[in-house]
Amino acid sequence: MRIMENPIQFVQWLRSVAPYIHAFRGKTFVVAFPGELVMAGALPVLAQDLSLLHALGIKVVIVHGSRPQVEEQLALRNVETHFHNGLRITDAAALECAKEAAGELRLDIEAAFSQGLPNTPMAHAAIRIISGNFVIARPMGIIDGIDLELTGVTRKIAYETIHPILNAGGLVLLSPLGFSPTGEIFNLTMEDVAVSAAIALRADKLIFITETPMMTDAAGTEIHELSAHQARATLNEGCLPADSTFYLQHAMKACSGGVPRAHIVPFATDGSALLELFTHDGVGTMISSQNLESLREATIEDVGGILKLIEPLEADGTLVKRGRELIEREIDYFSVIEHDGVIFGCAALYPFPAEKMAEMACLTVNPEVQAQGDGERLLKHMEIRARAAGFSQLFVLTTRTAHWFLKRGFVAATIDDLPKDRQHMYNWQRKSMVFIKNL
Ligand SMILES: CC(C)(COP(=O)(O)OP(=O)(O)OC[C@H]1O[C@@H](n2cnc3c(N)ncnc32)[C@H](O)[C@@H]1OP(=O)(O)O)[C@@H](O)C(=O)NCCC(=O)NCCS
Repeated sequence: MRIMENPIQFVQWLRSVAPYIHAFRGKTFVVAFPGELVMAGALPVLAQDLSLLHALGIKVVIVHGSRPQVEEQLALRNVETHFHNGLRITDAAALECAKEAAGELRLDIEAAFSQGLPNTPMAHAAIRIISGNFVIARPMGIIDGIDLELTGVTRKIAYETIHPILNAGGLVLLSPLGFSPTGEIFNLTMEDVAVSAAIALRADKLIFITETPMMTDAAGTEIHELSAHQARATLNEGCLPADSTFYLQHAMKACSGGVPRAHIVPFATDGSALLELFTHDGVGTMISSQNLESLREATIEDVGGILKLIEPLEADGTLVKRGRELIEREIDYFSVIEHDGVIFGCAALYPFPAEKMAEMACLTVNPEVQAQGDGERLLKHMEIRARAAGFSQLFVLTTRTAHWFLKRGFVAATIDDLPKDRQHMYNWQRKSMVFIKNL
């Protein structure tokens, strides 16, 4: 982008990303991708994007797949393998191919993270990638009477070794191979390693960057978000292609293992991981263990998020200026709408018990997501709060949002209609209009 052609847009964009940067700093993300991504030549760009996450203070664990690379090795060596229920039966010759593929991929990934030419996104990056015998595996065993030989499953992830590496600023790389106490090597799936790592490390996110296109429902509508409950229903419908089903099953497994969010993001879109993480709607599918968006009472941890949300409106005079201290003191009056850890909306309810009235103030919805009903949801919520507290009237003072309130049952009133204490605080310079709604 030629930044100086549109510096205002650039600054606005950078500021819009700030809440995500604050929310993600110090968090652990497990990022898993298939061997197809490397085949498609997308590794150097992914390395740049993941380096950026690392630079923003996110702890990154990478898990790579190797299916097409193993196929290549098998073909080169004329090794024939068999499958059972979609799982490769790994004999000694096939394992050699898996080792060869994983070794090559590891080196390619290390090389990609060593980029650092001046004027490229990775200049000054100097990222260190650490890999080792962090995945402990066991044989999958005999299924339906068929011995899967050296095909295994993850038994344990050496989280106690991985955490200090991440804390020291290293990136951890895991291959789809695991080791057993008997000294054997087992061939694993990338998805299994990624889910096990995300659960063991108590990761905040598991991100699959996939060769599959964006998931759609039976009607062909893109699926951007699913709660664990909705994800189960989608699987039961049986409309997803096999690859998407496989990813979704693993994402759900991670969520039920305690990972709050799993994302399935197609790598066909340039920068898809960044778009998914740093925009409200994303370009992939986010699966969450809880409800994604919550409307709840604010806590002291939300003060930073509320300030970020209202500061631009305070600056242009839409809202009255409140400092951090005031919001901290009055945090119990606030309710917020949170989405994936970021505050997208807020409102405050100030009580005037003597007159059985309450003031709704500071009603704000992030411009990125306005006109989707969040403002109305906040209003309804504040009405419920006010009624529950025994108030019979809700009032607002506004300079620019009169029509919004009129449309929602408020009627114009005068300053004399306000509670006595509020009349004394009325700011005659702002000349706000008064609207009241009977509850
Ligand atoms: C007012 C505000 C909270 C509404 O949030 P929202 O999530 O967009 O609200 P909803 O989705 O429930 O409602 C959107 C509707 O309100 C309309 N609307 C938005 N701002 C408006 C305004 N200032 N005056 C009149 N109507 C307005 C939209 O055009 C949209 O209309 P539509 O449904 O016919 O398309 C949001 O616009 C905002 O944060 N504004 C800046 C802060 C502000 O003015 N707060 C009030 C201080 S007293």
